Amino acid sequence: MKVDVLLGLQWGDEGKGKVVDVLTPKYDIIARFQGGPNAGHTIEFDGKKFVLHTIPSGIFNSSTVNLIGNGVIIDPLVFEKEVASLETSGVLVRQNLLISRKAHLILPSHRLLDAVYEASRGTLKIGSTLKGIGPAYTDKTSRNGLRVGDIECPLFLEKYKALQKLHFDIAKQHNSDYKDIIIEGLSFDAYEEQWLSACDTLRSFEKVNSEYYINQQLNLGKKVLAEGAQGTMLDVDFGSYPFVTSSNTITAGVCSGLGVAPSRIGKVIGIFKAYCTRVGSGPFPTELLDTTGDQLRDTGHEFGATTGRPRRCGWLDLPALNYAIMLNGVTELMMMKADVLDAFETIKVATQYEIDGQLTNEVPYDQVNTDSIPVYQEIKGWNTSLGKGTTYEELPDNLHQYVDFIELKTLTPIKMVSVGPDRTQTFIR
Ligand code: GDP
Ligand code: IMO
Ligand code: MG
Repeated sequence: MKVDVLLGLQWGDEGKGKVVDVLTPKYDIIARFQGGPNAGHTIEFDGKKFVLHTIPSGIFNSSTVNLIGNGVIIDPLVFEKEVASLETSGVLVRQNLLISRKAHLILPSHRLLDAVYEASRGTLKIGSTLKGIGPAYTDKTSRNGLRVGDIECPLFLEKYKALQKLHFDIAKQHNSDYKDIIIEGLSFDAYEEQWLSACDTLRSFEKVNSEYYINQQLNLGKKVLAEGAQGTMLDVDFGSYPFVTSSNTITAGVCSGLGVAPSRIGKVIGIFKAYCTRVGSGPFPTELLDTTGDQLRDTGHEFGATTGRPRRCGWLDLPALNYAIMLNGVTELMMMKADVLDAFETIKVATQYEIDGQLTNEVPYDQVNTDSIPVYQEIKGWNTSLGKGTTYEELPDNLHQYVDFIELKTLTPIKMVSVGPDRTQTFIR
């Protein structure tokens, strides 16, 4: 069997969590392959709402195994809180969750450094979620990191203290003392105490050598879906660097983040919103800083699932979408939040950019310092509530035309249209 991949094609928050949850009954294993608690994946069903940060979005189906792969970074305290909140709601987390021993740990002092680095950037702040993502991936790459497997090692505390000292020294060079920092409303010491206790919770979960596990399961004919976090435009290589996250959010990240060979990649499902959002700093060519942008934010409830920050909103950007389709090898698309456009008489879509007077379909090398002026095509809106249809065919013609237009411009089939946050508000084409 092959690994199917589901990932975001924009700047994150496309609705990946909802779709993974909808597709989970078709899969034996759902596996996260990158990112960490910077992710916030929302799932709604039966009037309940859950936001997941580290645990894969297949956790609500008791017959699906959920795997946190080696490419993910785990904050034991965030993880512990997530487990507690799911267990309170009766979700069987422990029985259905496996964790890679090779996944790296986010230490309290990674969060300290995230804050220190962000403060030192002045006006060039990335707008990080401050969950310690950048510093933890930096330690992984510089070969200083601690992994989940280390928790079981008798020398864990010594290794932890040694790495922490390194971090404190870096903070000092930035004129920061760990004693001055507040994390989640707590002093560093109080936060650390909770974090160390959360390591015990993590210790009590089943760990695996996930590269062997996943390949063995594929050999047995099990169906695996890899769940991406963030989005392609936040990829550390191909996103709007330096306004990106610190992992490869694209299909290539599945191979290194789970230990599966490129030849084992199957379908690649690309998730996009019918418009665009971005949270944090960085370029966003189709951003609307006017009442239309406010309308998208209000109607779409565009506030971060992890930080609560308002998301920046704008029209759909086809050069960026096609760039993402190319980088990921997307085989099918799923369009989310079509209902948010219900009240628009006219919808705009950027089909090209104008850069230095020239029209182009390409995302430029320097996304930050290039003025990519979107060239818009206007499309007639459906201007009615999508809540009424029960089949895709019953949805308004103008929505069909919007979908057909995007298919034509991306040369990729749109297999699902989502018209609300609930599991059931989903049309499969
Ligand atoms: P993720 O990070 O990609 O999983 O997405 P988030 O959960 O951060 O953000 C997506 C938000 O949109 C969540 O609040 C979802 O409940 C909501 N959502 C998902 N699909 C739809 C949809 O089709 N319509 C509306 N109105 N909301 C949706
Ligand atoms: P999901 O999986 C949207 C953004 C942050 C910031 C930049 C770097 O829910 O789609 P980091 O914390 O990684 O140092 O932040 O990336 N960002 C996200 N934006 N959705 C996410 O995840 C994000 N994860 C990180 O806002 O601009
Ligand atoms: Mg999110």
